Amino acid sequence: MSRNQVIHTPDEIARIRRAAALTAQVRDEIAAAARPGMTTFDLDQVAGELIRATGGKSAFFGYRGYPGNICISVNDEVVHGIGRPDRILLESDIVSIDVGVEIDGGVGDTALTFGFGELTPDLKRLLTGTREALDAGIRQARRGNYIRNISHAVETVAKRYHLGVVREYVGHGCGTSLHEPPEVPNFVGYGKGALLVPGMVICIEPMLNLGTHKVTTDSVDHWTVRTRDGACAAHFEHMVLITENEPEILTWPKTM
Ligand code: MF3
Ligand code: CO
Ligand code: CO
Repeated sequence: MSRNQVIHTPDEIARIRRAAALTAQVRDEIAAAARPGMTTFDLDQVAGELIRATGGKSAFFGYRGYPGNICISVNDEVVHGIGRPDRILLESDIVSIDVGVEIDGGVGDTALTFGFGELTPDLKRLLTGTREALDAGIRQARRGNYIRNISHAVETVAKRYHLGVVREYVGHGCGTSLHEPPEVPNFVGYGKGALLVPGMVICIEPMLNLGTHKVTTDSVDHWTVRTRDGACAAHFEHMVLITENEPEILTWPKTM
């Protein structure tokens, strides 16, 4: 009950709810503003404006020195892509945006992946499978379950869709800081993980690949994570409150 989970107070939960709702709103506004022909730097700037308009600030900018307002990861980029003035978005791209907003003692964190035009069957499978894996994980986010139940549900859907499961990066507790205990892996390992208790807030965030699960980090920017085989990756993330009853999705979907 101490170092491997954080149970938030009702006052904290009120702040976290508001931060998460604003983060979800900004996520959807950024997705709506994205179009082919823009650079990923342009999109990051738009995101910066939208975050400021909430009255909050980016939870990512400056985090361990992170230089962007949000993370923008295109095609084979899995997570932590940084907006670049020389990367023009194309009709054929898939784009993951990951958004964090900090406001009045609460932090929100949510991500989604989208394309522009008609997607190839493989890309449809990637996006549908990753979204479904997230939903399956969320359904297990109930009091009395363990983190392992979530991991198992996510991994089962990933397998059904023949998608590689990234192992180096995992979901996490969130709420009054961006990253809190416990870890929320997208695969089953040893042990049951933390027991789920009302008042816990967790980010469930499958990172799934069309090819190998193996990833590599950019040797120049030290942030951008890519698939080793160059195949496309998807990332969806929701923040979920453990309650007495049903899981409460705090970053409730509008576009997702
Ligand atoms: N949003 C990421 C997550 O889901 C963390 C991004 S940290 C950053 O946990 F520094 F890269 F922004
Ligand atoms: Co995130
Ligand atoms: Co997260």
